[in-house]
Amino acid sequence: MITLALSKGRIFEETLPLLRAAGIEVLEDPDKSRKLILATNLDDVRVLVVRATDVPTYVQYGGADLGITGKDTLLEHGSEGLYQPLDLQIAKCRISVAVRADFDYASAVKQGSRLKVATKYVAIAREFFAAKGVHVDLIKLYGSMELAPLVGLSDAIVDLVSTGNTLKANQLVEVEHIMDISSRLIVNQAALKLKQARIRKIIDAFAAATSAASSANSVLALSSRT
Ligand code: PRP
Repeated sequence: MITLALSKGRIFEETLPLLRAAGIEVLEDPDKSRKLILATNLDDVRVLVVRATDVPTYVQYGGADLGITGKDTLLEHGSEGLYQPLDLQIAKCRISVAVRADFDYASAVKQGSRLKVATKYVAIAREFFAAKGVHVDLIKLYGSMELAPLVGLSDAIVDLVSTGNTLKANQLVEVEHIMDISSRLIVNQAALKLKQARIRKIIDAFAAATSAASSANSVLALSSRT
């Protein structure tokens, strides 16, 4: 049996075409079913529906052989015991620093003030501000980070930005781009040895589908420029 851990939402939806390329069809929609183990068209492949932040844990401890997770989650969790063969180039977004439009971030940083930063991404934020030599007090939140500067809980947030609509709707502005994010395929190292042929086939199919999608995107980008 091959077990793949996925989270609901954007990663799940953007993974379906890759699974299809590997000949795998998930038989149930996780948004409609309460089941946490979803069958596929193949008797020996199943999908676990887990929280995004739990995907690396399931794969690390062998609860799943493979998983798909954001680079943000991997950096926060650490990647010990995980083989990362592919950047799947899906669920792309960025991690940024944002503040209220009326907060003078540049001066606060220049004057060496201690910034209060609310985030779910404590490890990423700590490393980013340490490298800049900015002193920060980190406040760990689990969601709706945009609220923190609005109610005076923090001066800034470190959060994922995709379209920028959530920041705009809450009168926040992006002041630093920390890194680009996309989703990665992760594999349990023991499973890779024990089920090598089966797992390699899936990795190869995902790799082919990812490179086909990125060439199609380059062609689109080129044709929109001409
Ligand atoms: C993420 C992120 C932002 C939003 C950004 O939240 O934390 O709030 O998406 O997207 P946008 O730039 O397209 O508006 P998500 O919906 O994943 O929920 P969360 O608050 O639980 O992190």
